[in-house]
Amino acid sequence: MAPEALRIHDDRLHEDIEKVLVPSAAIAERVRALAAAIGADYEHADGRLTVVPVMTGSLLFAADLVRALPQRRMRIQLTTVSSYGGTATASRGSSIVGALPKHLEGHHILIVDDILDSGGTLRLLRSEFEQRGAASVRASVLLRKRIPSALSTPVEYVGFDIDDEFVVGYGLDYDDLYRNLPYVGTLRRDALARVGASA
Ligand code: IMP
Ligand code: MG
Repeated sequence: MAPEALRIHDDRLHEDIEKVLVPSAAIAERVRALAAAIGADYEHADGRLTVVPVMTGSLLFAADLVRALPQRRMRIQLTTVSSYGGTATASRGSSIVGALPKHLEGHHILIVDDILDSGGTLRLLRSEFEQRGAASVRASVLLRKRIPSALSTPVEYVGFDIDDEFVVGYGLDYDDLYRNLPYVGTLRRDALARVGASA
């Protein structure tokens, strides 16, 4: 039988989903647990916590995470990292787009990203922030692929380890589509081909 989310909403975005890997209720529960762990670790950050969501993939994860954190006084500074490579392929390199976040020096930085894949994004941001005098740099990702490049990249907080499949939803996209789905799932082969052809 189709997963609940697929039965409730019968629109094109849901029809393109092959299978739901992480249902929205599981995401909500895990975000609460991550926020509790992160909150405890930053108890002594003395109002010097700066959360840096990596756009655009962490949009939903970061929005839910910061609201679940026990800390009320924090800064939020967005950053955008562009990865080179096709939309559904592993990235081959990363660079920061636009200005670096301010408030780095002496601040405890928590990078929030959607998925750990090649590790390029986290390695790049971590070294930039450390070079710019952050008091500490930690990272939280919603998803981590079970592949050597991801498993060998340092990351303090992980939501879910998943198989090496291309996933969309809850912020993750294919050609900027599917970010608004409330769950994480895989795309049907025909949707991958259709969206790819119009990209
Ligand atoms: P990195 O390869 O670890 O630097 O991750 C780069 C970025 O690639 C992630 O932040 C995502 O935006 C994107 N990405 C990697 N794997 C997937 C996927 O399965 N679906 C959608 N986006 C992905
Ligand atoms: Mg991203």
